[in-house]
Amino acid sequence: MRILLTAVLSLFLIPAVYAADFTGHWVATTHAPDGAVRETSLWLKAEGNAFTGYMSARNQDDATVSEAKISGDDISFSVVRDYYGEARKSSFTGTFVNGGLTLHTPGPNGQRRDLVFKRVSSDPPGPMPAPRAKLKLPAAAPVRYNGLAKTPPMGWNSWNKFRNEVSDKLVRETADAMAGNGMKAAGYQYINIDDTWEAGRDARGNILTNKKFPDMKALADYVHSKGLKLGIYSSPGPKTCADYEGSFKHEEQDAKTFASWGIDYLKYDWCSASLVYDYHSMQAAYAKMGQALLDVGRPIVYGLCQYGLLKSEEWAPAVGGNLWRTTGDISDNWESMSHIGFDQQADMAPYAGPGHWNDPDMLEVGNGGMSDVEYRTHMSLWSLLAAPLLAGNDLRSVPPGVMEILTNKEVIAIDQDRLGKQARRVSKDGDNEVWARPLSDGSYAIGLFNRGTASAKVAVRWKDAGFSGAGAVRDLWAHANLGSSVDTYSADVAPHGVVLLKVRKAGP
Ligand code: GLA
Repeated sequence: MRILLTAVLSLFLIPAVYAADFTGHWVATTHAPDGAVRETSLWLKAEGNAFTGYMSARNQDDATVSEAKISGDDISFSVVRDYYGEARKSSFTGTFVNGGLTLHTPGPNGQRRDLVFKRVSSDPPGPMPAPRAKLKLPAAAPVRYNGLAKTPPMGWNSWNKFRNEVSDKLVRETADAMAGNGMKAAGYQYINIDDTWEAGRDARGNILTNKKFPDMKALADYVHSKGLKLGIYSSPGPKTCADYEGSFKHEEQDAKTFASWGIDYLKYDWCSASLVYDYHSMQAAYAKMGQALLDVGRPIVYGLCQYGLLKSEEWAPAVGGNLWRTTGDISDNWESMSHIGFDQQADMAPYAGPGHWNDPDMLEVGNGGMSDVEYRTHMSLWSLLAAPLLAGNDLRSVPPGVMEILTNKEVIAIDQDRLGKQARRVSKDGDNEVWARPLSDGSYAIGLFNRGTASAKVAVRWKDAGFSGAGAVRDLWAHANLGSSVDTYSADVAPHGVVLLKVRKAGP
């Protein structure tokens, strides 16, 4: 009986003490939609039900694993990294399956992303390599304003839709489309090539284009011949976000090359700069390119892309920036767009003005992940925010409903208002939000937004928006005057929708 009992008990007990041996060097290789191949490594040493080791990932410093546990085939651990002066903890769980290790990593917008690791060696790891020394730049002198972007830049950027598929042919076709489809007439002007145009450098250190762009100067001439302007992309680091050549240690040379090609706009993306610069040098690294652009004497709009790190809104104009990203990357879905547009811009109004703009990222209008109602909300909110309007869809085939959203001149006039005052959130009641901005003709633009999933009545009190008495109300999507209203106005707003108004003082 006792033997039987022991045998039965051990059946239950053995799995509880079993711990797979995770010791070794593990590598996960991912192929990103931009064409870049990215590696994440784990060096682990199992010790009973725990383990030690470290993790290395692209554009991040190596980090020691902590809180590490093994339970059967499952593991869990955390890594803590210094993220621009803040200790940031990431927690992972994983499972040992078929000789591989699947790690569940936190993805954007709370989604889970699995990374599949293969063991490339079973040797226990040595000590974590010492962190690499980082460059410290002296504080930079302020860079003079270049006189550009008196209103938020308007145009198109290749990234949201095309990633690494941007090419000379696509840019020419996009320029043809923009010049002829009503967008140029509505104010769109810049055609911006994002990441993946770069090759390496020649023997003299000049940056080269890859085979997708055989002749950048000829391309710029073509875009200019359509009455449009050409933009390009680089990084203060050695590599761009998609792992192409960056401008590190070639800033002046690249600014000269861009000018010689006829470039009119530069988006400058931090990325691998985090590995070479002490992060306190970010401002000086941006000033370096800001000054280099100014020195080449060609008008080049300068866009900072460092995801709002280190309160860029407070210093971007002083490094010559005409615009600066305020958040991480937008995705073509309601959660991403509404989180970036509403939640992350609420305190940004004081920083915007003629020549220098907050950039909540490029438009997703027309990319298919949202309804036209949601895209109208996107376009309305970006216009209230005085955001750059950089379309991110395929301009060669735009459905009429999408074109109407992108080219609504009354809405664009809000974005481009020369007073340059970004909207404030004037009220929030659950899912109902009201945003308003004053305009140069003394009127106000007011957005009544419904972030909920059922229709809602959204109301505004004129005094919250900045005036009182009778207001003459115009609906900028219906293109209709709605008469005048005293002290307040309310409208039924569709789920995820907007009613965008222009209101001016009416009567005595
Ligand atoms: C970063 C930027 C994006 C885009 C990509 C290109 O993620 O934030 O807007 O430029 O890099 O690699």
